[in-house]
Amino acid sequence: MRAPEVLLGIETSCDETAAAVVAGGVDVRSSVVSSQVDLHARFGGVVPEIASRAHVELLGPVVAEALVESGRSGNDIDAVAATVGPGLVGSLLVGLAAAKALALVWGVPFVGVNHLEAHLYAAFLDEPALEPPMVALLVSGGHTLLVAVDDHGRYRVLGSTVDDAAGEAFDKVARFLGLGYPGGPAIDRTALTGDPTAIDFPRAMLDQGYDFSFSGLKTAVVTYVRRHPEVATEDVAASFQQAVVDVLVAKTRKAARDTGFDRVCLGGGVAANSLLRERFLDACATDGLQCHLPSRAMCTDNAAMVAAAGWWRLRSDGPTDLGAGAEPNLRLPVS
Ligand code: KG4
Ligand code: ZN
Repeated sequence: MRAPEVLLGIETSCDETAAAVVAGGVDVRSSVVSSQVDLHARFGGVVPEIASRAHVELLGPVVAEALVESGRSGNDIDAVAATVGPGLVGSLLVGLAAAKALALVWGVPFVGVNHLEAHLYAAFLDEPALEPPMVALLVSGGHTLLVAVDDHGRYRVLGSTVDDAAGEAFDKVARFLGLGYPGGPAIDRTALTGDPTAIDFPRAMLDQGYDFSFSGLKTAVVTYVRRHPEVATEDVAASFQQAVVDVLVAKTRKAARDTGFDRVCLGGGVAANSLLRERFLDACATDGLQCHLPSRAMCTDNAAMVAAAGWWRLRSDGPTDLGAGAEPNLRLPVS
């Protein structure tokens, strides 16, 4: 039997319902993302029960649209990949059940995908020639990980957050500043007209290895604004963003120096941040590193990255048993 080439990917780990058709692990034939942002915005964050119910309603049409956009039918799909974790258990189960049912009906393999690994594989979608080894910085709403990618599927976690994830810090600070949800894009926009040097917020654990800490920064923002109610929100947003980006960039540079790897890549929703992207490119140019930034659409949750990671996993491990369940606390597999 020939190796599966064309995969349908399904992503429902949080508040985006997404499906995509990807050929050969890198060639995106369609990528459809239906965001539930409007459903959760008035609650200031994702409400798990609302998210799972919305996935149930949206997934059928989203998969149908992904197939139509790719110009393929179920008969042309060689395997179905879906996120098994980490994420919200109810949301994960909706995508998993649908993916397994489609794989059974079409008589093709099912492959379960780790969401963190999928964020990492987003870099390959924009640059198919990319090859490990490399240093990867994964920054999302739930995770902040600095990873040495020794080879496909072979990871060493160099550092992670000891408290809040980077995206979580963006979301919490935006909420405090009244900028709405999701916070990352709101701070990104607001910071454009602010002065990043206006307030000298702490750069936590800057010289202490590879781990990160963002909860003290969030508290520093709250304390500062309470003491200086007249401060411009734009300056707070820009100074906060600068503090987060300084730490993320400094630790990634250090990881590249210490591992000796000459390639770095970014992944996860926070990798869509304008300042982080700009500073990353500058740092790589200065240090002589190759920098791989997925497009903004491939940084935030999508199913093309799930299909890409699934393609590699099918080749290395074969299909996933249909009895596999959701794994809300799944970690990046380490070698
Ligand atoms: O990867 P993702 O879409 O979902 C998770 O796996 O968590 O990441 C979502 C996170 C949210 O915290 C959101 O505020 C943040 O990514 N984010 C951003 C930007 N766009 C999304 N943070 C900073 N700047 C952005 N432009
Ligand atoms: Zn994600």
